[in-house]
Amino acid sequence: MAETTPKPWGETTVVGKPLPRVDAYERVSGTAVYTLDLLLPDMLHAATLRCPHPHARVKKVDFAKALKMPGVRAVLSDADPEANIPWHSGPGGKPASRLFDSHCRHEGEEVAVVAAESPQQAWDAVRAIQVEYETLPFVVSMEEALKPGAPAVQEGGNLGSKPNVYSRGDVDKGFAEADALIEETFTTSCEIQSPMETFVSVARWDGDNLMVWDSSQGPFAVQSGLARLLDMPLNKVRVISQFMGGGFGSKLDLSKHTVIAALLARKTARPVKLALSREESFLCVGNRPAHTMTLKAGVKKDGTLTALQLTGTGEVGAYPGSTTVGGQVMELYSCPNVRTEETSALINAGQNRPMRAPGYVQCSWALEQVLDALAEKIGMDPVDLRIKNFIAVHQAQKGLPYTSAGLRECLMEGAKAFGWKEARARARGNGTWLRGVGVAGCLWGYAGGPPSTVIVGLNADGSVILNMGAADIGTGTKTVMAMIVAEELGVPLDRIRIEHADTGTTLYSAPSGGSKTVPSDSPAVRAAALDLKSKLLELAAEQLKTPVESLELRGGEISARGGSQKVAIGNLAALRQQQALVGVGKRAPNPTGKTARPFAAHFAEVEVNRYTGEIRVLRMVAAQDSGRVLNLLTYRNQVFGGLTMGIGFALTERRVMDQPTGKMANANWHDYKIPTAMDVPAELTCVPVDMHDHEWNNTSTKGIGEPATIPAAAAIANAFYHATGVRARSAPMTPSAVIGLLSQGKVKG
Ligand code: MOS
Repeated sequence: MAETTPKPWGETTVVGKPLPRVDAYERVSGTAVYTLDLLLPDMLHAATLRCPHPHARVKKVDFAKALKMPGVRAVLSDADPEANIPWHSGPGGKPASRLFDSHCRHEGEEVAVVAAESPQQAWDAVRAIQVEYETLPFVVSMEEALKPGAPAVQEGGNLGSKPNVYSRGDVDKGFAEADALIEETFTTSCEIQSPMETFVSVARWDGDNLMVWDSSQGPFAVQSGLARLLDMPLNKVRVISQFMGGGFGSKLDLSKHTVIAALLARKTARPVKLALSREESFLCVGNRPAHTMTLKAGVKKDGTLTALQLTGTGEVGAYPGSTTVGGQVMELYSCPNVRTEETSALINAGQNRPMRAPGYVQCSWALEQVLDALAEKIGMDPVDLRIKNFIAVHQAQKGLPYTSAGLRECLMEGAKAFGWKEARARARGNGTWLRGVGVAGCLWGYAGGPPSTVIVGLNADGSVILNMGAADIGTGTKTVMAMIVAEELGVPLDRIRIEHADTGTTLYSAPSGGSKTVPSDSPAVRAAALDLKSKLLELAAEQLKTPVESLELRGGEISARGGSQKVAIGNLAALRQQQALVGVGKRAPNPTGKTARPFAAHFAEVEVNRYTGEIRVLRMVAAQDSGRVLNLLTYRNQVFGGLTMGIGFALTERRVMDQPTGKMANANWHDYKIPTAMDVPAELTCVPVDMHDHEWNNTSTKGIGEPATIPAAAAIANAFYHATGVRARSAPMTPSAVIGLLSQGKVKG
């Protein structure tokens, strides 16, 4: 196995270049087979009957009519013993539900499924199933859920967790030392991940071997989840997640429909596809929970933060889950006295799941607006206040130094690219449109690490196979990993075949999430390529009778430095004889005694229509310290996508729960407003900040997906304040909300 700590790259020939994706043709021509596209011979289609009520007990399910419908081959419900599989946990981690539970705690919970010859026949049969429900009192807002006497979502009440408390120093002392104090309550809305490809699994059994194609970020997580629930060894469960259309966190782990597809396929002895509609995706497979955060902060006249205190509650859904948001309060800015206290509230709605930078986006909305307000109170520039409070160690983890921390550089280089001082000084306008600029900083709490094992194989003709477990969830993972192999072996990208995201043919990789794929897997890819290279050079050294140290590999040829001897890879006798050569690379551990984080600073310029409440984002600059850029094109894609999601969080996206019926009122892409091309400015600028972090891993990378979205919404909110003099505490800032704010507040300008 290769040395896992090779020298950092200097000048590169492939890595860092803005190259198009290796699978661009398949993706844009429609030849790429996504799980949703997959058609197997003999395949059945499944459709799910879901509880229409926010809270109900299923008294009786009558399949008689449905079973007589054309094309129907099987049904499955809580009555089937094989479906007696525990699913959600309740408070204290005790099992709280089964796959099809007669106690439905939110609209959309699974009651039964049908497998039929066509999707239309399956849906017709679902509509023919007669269900008797006993409806129960429900609660669909956090405020109502925490009132005394509110209907209980779980036995034992609606608090989803014991208060999660973090504390250092003495906040009261810190507040007493402050020259200026701010205390504000902020709220954010529930967002839905909304990947382009909805949730879908195809399951097929060959004897006692299960094969599953799943639109997933983590084929190995789905494999181990299925193996555990179906009591099977890993070698008998094969999961493939190639060409998947996004997940944003909602597809990190096993979902119910995947288990159901496997059970139906076993029951019918036919392959089964279970695809969720867009509406089902809105109701049942995850969301970014709404949050209420009260943040109190103290600052001295010179900008020194003296204390930060966060009290927060996340609206977790019908089953407990993690909703903590306090990471950046503890870690982002230098502050000796910090306290966070976080709880969650259960409501009769779908359970939350991670969504792009879970917790960090919500917290940024509060923390970065408070920083802005503090800067105004002490008459300091908001960029300068953030720079003043930069800290290069992890304050909540024993003061561990970061291997690199580019927040200051992001703020300074971002401000320069944005023209911050000039834009800040420019008039706000006093006509219909008010103009303003804002800034926000961030860090993200992960930067990757082991485990990851990658294989790079060489064919006799010098072409290459890259074999890795990681899924490419639409971010360009395949492309950047192949570029690393191309860099090290000097082979063109089109001579590399990529085998990936298949638990039957590749080795374990963690789910592609947490912005961890590049910093976790790319070092293993590099190590594997270097392992192969050293073996190749050894073969050449034997053939050329030259010391291996004098050999170099370039353009498919191995030559002796300064000498005339050379041999093409395809002409290596030993390789021709064995026909294959293999390098293996393992992700080395992260350095001990240090940690790493990606950092970013975002800048936004907005216009606010004082009569209609419309906010137009005019331009944004995102300065990102995510380490070395492996591909400038896919890196910029991530950043622009992150900014777009930030615009959605700030201005348009929210789940609307209808209080009288307890149902989601906008479970479709017409009424749930994701930013379109019309809402995103043409002027988006990405400023990569490379701190040359050669300590964290051998590719000097830290991950870009999530830090590219964290501060975007807060930068827009701060720009709104700069334009209007009114603080928008609640996200999203819809036109009607803005009209309300402007009519209450005094608008400057
Ligand atoms: Mo991300 S929320 O880890 O896919």
